[in-house]
Amino acid sequence: MKKVIKGFRFTPSNYPDEIEDKIQKYRKQGLKLPQRKVLRTPEQIEGIRASAKINTALLDYLSEKIREGISTEEIDKLAYNFTKQHGAIPAPLHYGGFPKSVCTSINDVVCHGIPSKDEILRSGDIVNVDVSTIYNGYFSDASRMFMIGEVSAEKQRLVQVTKECLELGIAAAQPWARLGDVGAAIQEHAEKNGYSVVRDLCGHGIGVAFHEDPDVEHFGRRGTGMVIVPGMTFTIEPMINMGTYNVFVDQADEWTVCTDDGLPSAQWEKMILITETGNEILTY
Ligand code: MF3
Ligand code: CO
Repeated sequence: MKKVIKGFRFTPSNYPDEIEDKIQKYRKQGLKLPQRKVLRTPEQIEGIRASAKINTALLDYLSEKIREGISTEEIDKLAYNFTKQHGAIPAPLHYGGFPKSVCTSINDVVCHGIPSKDEILRSGDIVNVDVSTIYNGYFSDASRMFMIGEVSAEKQRLVQVTKECLELGIAAAQPWARLGDVGAAIQEHAEKNGYSVVRDLCGHGIGVAFHEDPDVEHFGRRGTGMVIVPGMTFTIEPMINMGTYNVFVDQADEWTVCTDDGLPSAQWEKMILITETGNEILTY
């Protein structure tokens, strides 16, 4: 039976024949496919969109407040209050013991930096602010880079190229493409520009939990990895280093991830929905 699909309306238990046929075809070829439970229903998609809307509004709000002289703890407080005022919950707070509502990662901190009253943003810093929201049980996630005061041309270029890496990764995240295509697009652009891709952390499925299958690596080979199927929702969040891709976790707090060589790292993150014809960016 032929169905006319406008937008993304079907449920995974009632997929249109052309999608079921493709899933079966790839399954027979022995390719890795996502589990049904990570393919979203229309209800879930509505819920995720509502969460994502608050998450984007939060980053817009923070972007007006972030400036030289602010402490990362002040950013955290602003985020907590904004999220609560919108009837939502900051997803990082108490997640696996994480003590704050946002991650703030400055210069050589790759990700998972913990906001602190003693950490003041200074001219020349590049900082990633990573926010994640739970609204009505649905999860969303995004991060942006902010450049404080006068930032060196070198660091500006790192921030810009990392943003391009994310855009290229999103462009490669097409229905029936492979997750390796996403990783390869990001890795090629980073390495062409003389940078490296962090290997130890990846993007992830998200929607009804903070971190779901699959892992979305930011490096890899085209034509490998899981088949990308309509209905998937996942983040792409490349961490790109100016020097080595090796990182370590600060043993003092067991969260902060830093570059081994002390050189700067940048990250941008968005969350996308795979549709029948491409993808929809859910968080900005
Ligand atoms: N937004 C981060 C991610 O992409 C959140 C890290 S977990 C936290 O997974 F506990 F550090 F917040
Ligand atoms: Co994430």
